[in-house]
Amino acid sequence: MKITNIQIDHMTEPMGFLVQDHPVVSYQIVEAQGNAQRSVRICVYDAETLVFDSGVLEHAQPVYVIKAPLSPRTRYEVRIAVVSDANEEAHTATWFETGKMDEAWQAQWIAPAGEETGSVPVLGKVFTLEKAVARARLYVGCAGIYTASLGGVRVGDECLTPYCNDYSAWMQIITHDVTPQLCQGENVLELTVAEGWHQGRFGLQGASKIYGDTPAVIAELHVCFADGTQTVLATDASWYARKSCYVSAGIYDGVTLDYTRSTAEKTPVRILPPCAGKLTDRLSLPVRVKHTLPVANVLTTPKGELCLDMGQNMVGWLRIDTTLFADKDFSIRFFEVLDPEGNVYLDNLRSAKQAFVYHTDGRARVTEPPLSFYGFRYAWVEGLDTLPREAFTGCVAYSDMEQTGDITTSNVWLNRLFLNALWGQRGNFVDMPTDCPQRDERLGWTGDAQVFCGTANFNMNTAAFYRKYMYDLAFEQQRRNGAVPHFIPSFQDGEDGAHARSSAAWGDAATVIPWTTYLHSGDKTLLAREYPAMKAWLEYIRRQDSGNRLWDSGFHFGDWLALDTPRPERPLGTTPSELVASAYYLYSATLVSKAAAVLGYAADAAQYAALAQEVRTAMQREFITPTGRVASDTQTANVLALFMAFATDPDRTAADLAAKIAANSGHLNTGFVGTAYLCRALSDHGHNEAAWNLLMRRDYPGWLYEVDKGATTIWERWNSIKPDGSLGDVSMNSYNHYAYGAVVEWLYRNAAGLQPLEEAPGGTCMRLSPQPSPRLEGLNASYRAPQGLYRCEWRIAQDGLHFCFEIPFGGTGRLVLPDAPQEILLNGEAVPYCGELLLHKGIYTVQYMPLKPYFIAYGAESAAAEVMESEPMKRWLQEQLPAFAALPHYVFLEPPTGTLRAYLAGLGVEISDETAAAMRQAWAGIRSWDVGFVS
Ligand code: BGC
Repeated sequence: MKITNIQIDHMTEPMGFLVQDHPVVSYQIVEAQGNAQRSVRICVYDAETLVFDSGVLEHAQPVYVIKAPLSPRTRYEVRIAVVSDANEEAHTATWFETGKMDEAWQAQWIAPAGEETGSVPVLGKVFTLEKAVARARLYVGCAGIYTASLGGVRVGDECLTPYCNDYSAWMQIITHDVTPQLCQGENVLELTVAEGWHQGRFGLQGASKIYGDTPAVIAELHVCFADGTQTVLATDASWYARKSCYVSAGIYDGVTLDYTRSTAEKTPVRILPPCAGKLTDRLSLPVRVKHTLPVANVLTTPKGELCLDMGQNMVGWLRIDTTLFADKDFSIRFFEVLDPEGNVYLDNLRSAKQAFVYHTDGRARVTEPPLSFYGFRYAWVEGLDTLPREAFTGCVAYSDMEQTGDITTSNVWLNRLFLNALWGQRGNFVDMPTDCPQRDERLGWTGDAQVFCGTANFNMNTAAFYRKYMYDLAFEQQRRNGAVPHFIPSFQDGEDGAHARSSAAWGDAATVIPWTTYLHSGDKTLLAREYPAMKAWLEYIRRQDSGNRLWDSGFHFGDWLALDTPRPERPLGTTPSELVASAYYLYSATLVSKAAAVLGYAADAAQYAALAQEVRTAMQREFITPTGRVASDTQTANVLALFMAFATDPDRTAADLAAKIAANSGHLNTGFVGTAYLCRALSDHGHNEAAWNLLMRRDYPGWLYEVDKGATTIWERWNSIKPDGSLGDVSMNSYNHYAYGAVVEWLYRNAAGLQPLEEAPGGTCMRLSPQPSPRLEGLNASYRAPQGLYRCEWRIAQDGLHFCFEIPFGGTGRLVLPDAPQEILLNGEAVPYCGELLLHKGIYTVQYMPLKPYFIAYGAESAAAEVMESEPMKRWLQEQLPAFAALPHYVFLEPPTGTLRAYLAGLGVEISDETAAAMRQAWAGIRSWDVGFVS
């Protein structure tokens, strides 16, 4: 038995992170004989002194709280001893280290005294250490973003430190372990400071100097010598400033490097008064280069532009080895797609230059610009005659989170869709959840974050990432009396204007993100920490309610970018904004009441459950007809009635939704809000096939249409590239916008059936309830919950449905099988099945012949809609049935319904027994999963 994946506050060996209340520890058990944990004991030591002892705990939990008194700048060892129910024992240890906590600073804020050092100055100090160093930590706060170096060698591997937040509220302190980089004797510590989000041009208004106008740092180097003595080197007036090789470095515009500059001259620094924001230990996860990509292709466009194609829309930068062109100046523009003629397309970046400019001093070097980042698949290089591929490496950087979920299927388009959403998360989880990573926006839009967080929580361990976002959200909310701005940090955007107000579905990030993250992490302390923000948001909504229990006032983004929008220049969709807003009122009231119940706040739980019920009743009165029809005729209105639970007749609503999709030629027309829950609403209410059919379409509009058009990330708009190849509305058209990737949550929950349970969060028990479809031959999905790895695999074969389930140590799977008979084969043995099976740790195979056919043989009794979507079957009908071939084209404008036989009979085409037999024979080789939905 082994203890693995031990985390403190959902991070591995965190150093210098803010401790809010108490840290929590979590871990997983593998290679055990036993099924579950009998007991655990957690002890925490400061050196050899025991500071916390949990005692022997017999009740297993997803996380354990470490209630130790903590001191600043101290490393704590956490020892864990687990005993299994088979009496195996395992021991392990991990550590965490506190940052400066509330300790006062000896250092002062410093900045260059004059202008001559440019916009990206270096601030440094030469100092001598007389003795051997045992341990050293560098603590840095910065107005801007910085890289640190010791003796000319970069410190650590983090990029974009100290990251992005509302600097007027708080400034993050980054802790670096610099022990191996210090030497006895002379050392040079330097910090290169760029504008970053602090002073650089950023935000919707394109403003600069939002939080200040001076690049500045505060730093302390704490050194413990081998002989036990200590010293502190702090920023003060004795430091120097000098020019760097960076001429400029901005988030939107990129980096200009000039190695011909003389940078040696040292000039004085000046002391600045403390910055407005409180210096606080960090919450931002490290942004690191997590993957590297080779160049996929080198191309010359029809206009003669020389480009690198990375084969993947990615976020980060290029690492460039200049050896083969050391004497050349060059410049690069990063961009996402080629235009319809195959030339460089920069227009959708709007004002963002996304450039890298390099002036050489003739020397060869490996260069990369960690003071900015780019969203790109292509790089247009000017100044070089040829592009040797090996000189360029794509560095993919994002907040360091482990991937916890994976899905592969028998369908390559679907696999690519999964990857596209995953790449969307990689590209847009650079310190904060952004809408897009390339144009002059890159903001922490709350609506986008809210709809995607269910998917994000399956794909990666996001608890620490969202903790930082929620910390920022709480600051914004405090200033706005519970309201949540449209993006976070708000960059003081229109605090008195439009952005001071909140939009439904956007502001609901305040309730949806904490609740979803709790469900996945099982960490109640997280929920308790965010509960005030959840409640404040709900109370804000309640104040917008004029007493009728509807949210029918104010501006809302509605069903943003829905295709049923009547006015493309105001893309809010057709679904009434009061319906969307009230649905979220109901949803947030429900989530807050659930959270209150989990936390034991009984009065709040009851109060908010009652509020939710009042909103539901008011919505039913306003938005549902007496016969149970959703009065608003849109797909999204029906989706919300099902998902937010205000339909009075859910079966009817689900049938109406399926019918609306069929009437729209089998296509969706939903926007940011409806799309997120569209397939879930269908599958959860008896229309699983409709969900699959929608997902598997490869024609416009739909998820796989984008894949068919070569997308390697999720697009902002369904028509970011139109069927004729032309590009979508240039004023707002990103090719890396994860919102519609929210469908991946359906892939995990419904297609694979991996469902977290509210009563057993953190994966202590999961419902395993796959909903396969004849549209797919097989699927294999895994999700590593805090409790351990759950896996579900299914395959459709002639002899029935085959499943394989894996349940981790300490976990339980509540197996709910689709269309199962009363007896199934479990690990090869016949066992009775009556609606649910409880399984503990282990790997199980299940097989049975389902009550409904999943392995479809096509013929006259097949669904007409499916046959008519299949090119080979349609062709056969045309060739073999003259009466069919003679039908006028307009009869096909009505979507086909019923069986093929009945449908054709309705059109006056009879199928004889002979034809039916021939048809069955001719179509025997056609597999349902090969029936492409392409018109
Ligand atoms: C962003 C979105 C965002 C929206 C709100 C856009 O500019 O890119 O994704 O949610 O505005 O309306």
